[in-house]
Amino acid sequence: MKSMLAPSMMCISLDKVVSSLHIFEQTSIDYLHIDVMDGLFVPNLAYGTDYIRQLRSMTHIPLDLHLMIEHPEKKLSWFDIQPGELVSVHPESTQHLHRTLQAISDVGARPMIALNPSTPLNVLDYVLDNICGVLVMTVNPGFAGQKAVLSAIRKIADVRSYLDEHGYPQHMLEVDGNVSFDYAPLMRKNGGNLFVLGSSSALSPKVDLLDGLNRFRTLVT
Ligand code: DX5
Ligand code: ZN
Repeated sequence: MKSMLAPSMMCISLDKVVSSLHIFEQTSIDYLHIDVMDGLFVPNLAYGTDYIRQLRSMTHIPLDLHLMIEHPEKKLSWFDIQPGELVSVHPESTQHLHRTLQAISDVGARPMIALNPSTPLNVLDYVLDNICGVLVMTVNPGFAGQKAVLSAIRKIADVRSYLDEHGYPQHMLEVDGNVSFDYAPLMRKNGGNLFVLGSSSALSPKVDLLDGLNRFRTLVT
């Protein structure tokens, strides 16, 4: 499965959003990763519904919404989710995972399950038909700039094997958190194919964006 890139918008300062979007469009970036945080499921607040609506009006690149919120099943309608968008929900955040995934599909979007580092794979057992992929958190959710949980990098390979053995080789495997230039080849080797670019790779303030995107692509091809 070809590698895809999803820059994390929370790693882009407001004054660089417009210029970054131009570069993303010129370099055929696949998705824009938007972290939504409610201060309850994770100890941070990030990106609300107005930001998401405004961002949609600024670019044709589809969104990859990462919902780190309690009870997402009650809040999906807030986001005006569009057909073709990726929407990741955490099984740790709802008692109604299947219903939530169904509701995302019902609006033509593509449901994903996001797993915290310690969450076992058996939460996927009865919903594999209802998702288009799995997002493996390689940091504990809530903040950019954290160091990877090394067992979660190994977990990427376990999730890939699990999906393949259960008959879903086409399911995407997104990797999110400290996806650094150093870790990228291993994350790719372990089976990742959608990479959230953040502060430790192309969106590092120390790196030219275009150079960083090109460098990252060579590491995961
Ligand atoms: C963390 C978010 C990540 C984060 C990535 O909770 O889900 O998307 O923004 O940032 P880095 O790459 O710096 O870990
Ligand atoms: Zn994220």
